[in-house]
Amino acid sequence: MLNGKVIVLGVTGGIAAYKAATLCSRLVQRGADVHVIMSESAKQFITELTLQTLTKNPVYSDTFDERDPSVVSHIHLADLADLVLVAPATANVIGKMAHGLADDMLTTTLLATTAPVMISPAMNVHMYTHPAVMANMETLVSRGVGMIEPGEGLLACGYIGKGRMEEPDSIVEVVERFFSERNSEPAVKLDKGGDHSMEANLLHGKKVLVTAGGTIERIDPVRYITNDSSGKMGFAIAKVAKQLGANVHLIAAHTDEAPPADLNVERVGSAEEMYEAVLRQFADSDIVIKAAAVADYRPAQVATSKLKKLGETMTLELVKTTDILENLGQRKSSQFLIGFAAETNSVEAFAREKLERKNCDLLVANDVSQEGAGFRTETNRVQIYDAKGLVLDLPLMAKEEVAEQLLKLAAERLGRRSS
Ligand code: PMT
Repeated sequence: MLNGKVIVLGVTGGIAAYKAATLCSRLVQRGADVHVIMSESAKQFITELTLQTLTKNPVYSDTFDERDPSVVSHIHLADLADLVLVAPATANVIGKMAHGLADDMLTTTLLATTAPVMISPAMNVHMYTHPAVMANMETLVSRGVGMIEPGEGLLACGYIGKGRMEEPDSIVEVVERFFSERNSEPAVKLDKGGDHSMEANLLHGKKVLVTAGGTIERIDPVRYITNDSSGKMGFAIAKVAKQLGANVHLIAAHTDEAPPADLNVERVGSAEEMYEAVLRQFADSDIVIKAAAVADYRPAQVATSKLKKLGETMTLELVKTTDILENLGQRKSSQFLIGFAAETNSVEAFAREKLERKNCDLLVANDVSQEGAGFRTETNRVQIYDAKGLVLDLPLMAKEEVAEQLLKLAAERLGRRSS
């Protein structure tokens, strides 16, 4: 799977550095050409000789250790890499990366490379959840750095919690999946700079209908039922779809922020209003993506004047709203239908049940109980299912990147269908 791929492996100074040996060995076994760069503190935990022996390549740690006079080592490695993987990534290196510091061989290489970068954090649970570290990780994710989330369990420091570096075999799986998805991608690639002219044709001529935000179900003129959706996920999809050349119609319920510029935005309030708006656009849509959080129930009666405080308790009778997605699933002809599922438990089972019941082509499941995933966050962590099962299990990434992956998958499947 990794034949011919050059992986620059950054090893930084935490106890999990001992796992770097297994990781090197597994990557090499799968055909990768692995070049290790260690931080000075990593050398307290594992020797250069171990990693050199496993990779059959020199191990670097000193920026000024120029072994080959014909090249500048850190630029050479930066250019050579198909992927730079930092495992384990300490809080320190994450902080340096987030702030663009370059004070050793690894961080200079990281600044110099244009290759994709992934990190596999490992640290004490309190360090991992420290607001500074979380903010640094969010910064990296928003710049497109892939995050291989640490697992939970007994940490070397004695605490139980999140912070244990992902096991080498799982990291190798993520790396393999990354390259296999990349190989199956169309020749076009979104750059991170916002100029998406290269792939402007991927959805050219397609109408993409997107819903975003949380519906508002009125109780009386001053009160309503809603949910935590900010609209960020739906907005990201609409924005990227437009960058890919689609004609986008965005239907937005209650959201926290302004929708992307230069888009057709139709504002709605309740689930029923969204249903009507969606139906008006559905017939000539090619792809329909329901990222909105739609209320399942609404008050049976909407009071026309403000309800008065009367007794100690109050009962509100709720009735079911129309399930828009399910309804579209029954009506669809050629439309490619994508649903979302916001879950907190049994994610796969609920996601697959919704996919089938609502007759979707793809279903994007997000476990909204996870850090950085679901409502209001800049990032999301999703699994994408089709009728046969899991299609893509994406690491934590910026919502625009989730959108990019999802839209490329939809474009590819739509293309396959019409050919
Ligand atoms: O907006 P953000 O803050 O960025 O958060 C993003 C998100 C968490 C809202 C988004 O990623 C997400 O998961 N959206 C779907 C949330 C949801 O309502 O899930 P659900 O499992 O309740 O519904 C399943 C699907 O049916 C959804 O596509 C939903 O739009 C649709 N539905 C649900 C009820 C209903 N009456 N009509 C519907 O169409």
